[in-house]
Amino acid sequence: MTKEQQIHPTRQFPSTFSLEGKTALITGGGSGIGFDIARCLLASGAQVIITGRREEPLKEAVASLGERAAYRVNDVTQLDMLESLIAGLEADFGPIDILINNAGINMKKPALDVTDEDFQRIIHTNLQSVFALTRACARRMVARNSGSIIMISSMAAYYGLDRVVAYAASKSGVEGMVRVLASEFSRFNVRVNAIAPGFIETSMMRTAMSSDPERMNKALDRTPIGYFGQPEDIGWATVFLASDAARYITGISMPVDGGNSIGF
Ligand code: NAI
Repeated sequence: MTKEQQIHPTRQFPSTFSLEGKTALITGGGSGIGFDIARCLLASGAQVIITGRREEPLKEAVASLGERAAYRVNDVTQLDMLESLIAGLEADFGPIDILINNAGINMKKPALDVTDEDFQRIIHTNLQSVFALTRACARRMVARNSGSIIMISSMAAYYGLDRVVAYAASKSGVEGMVRVLASEFSRFNVRVNAIAPGFIETSMMRTAMSSDPERMNKALDRTPIGYFGQPEDIGWATVFLASDAARYITGISMPVDGGNSIGF
């Protein structure tokens, strides 16, 4: 490593963690974890574009996020729209430096009741769309020799969590994709990582837990920190992974889970 490549510990703190001058795209950024990822990236200096399927919540989200935030209505499952989405965004906002694949759906059903259509719907949103959007962004990042891609995975990729077979399969697929893409893109200075949230208080989690106090207590019991996470806990981890402070980190899945994955 040359002297120029070294990060001087005092002179460059906190700028090494700063996202100033960077543009980030966050799918599903109008609510839940995605919204707080947007908040944290903005606080760290980035320009942020959020996407989602419905205009009204996106408009409201951008109004509260402030002037460095913008939105585009986009359904990630419309695969043939993703290339033009990215081309249009880069024409309007400049290069996308950071892609956060956050949009996702869950479905809780015993495995024997899951239809092929159910399974396909979850895989299509959580895995196929993630690949298609990543490919559209990465093509440009690779050409520019710069970029950071972050997938929002799940502890469901690691545990035998009952009644989420399609969701767990989709997130396991995302984890495999991270490792392959990190291997392929590293020489182009494009990093690819995942964050695996534990149990984070959002409407998705409340839906999964509200009718199932036994599941909720089980999750809490094995979380050493003793409470559920907040969306901003994922937001700050995203800032770190997107920043130059994480420049030597690629191909990982980082648990942000209050110790849930190591709890007994
Ligand atoms: P949420 O339901 O509050 O947010 C999901 C977002 O994705 C929403 O804004 C929704 O509109 C958007 N979305 C869904 N389908 C879309 C589509 N086809 N096109 C565009 N946007 C779409 O859920 P939450 O909890 O914020 O989840 C965010 C991510 O975090 C998901 O990938 C989820 O799997 C993951 N996750 C959440 C955990 C939790 O405890 N809340 C735990 C582990 C992972």
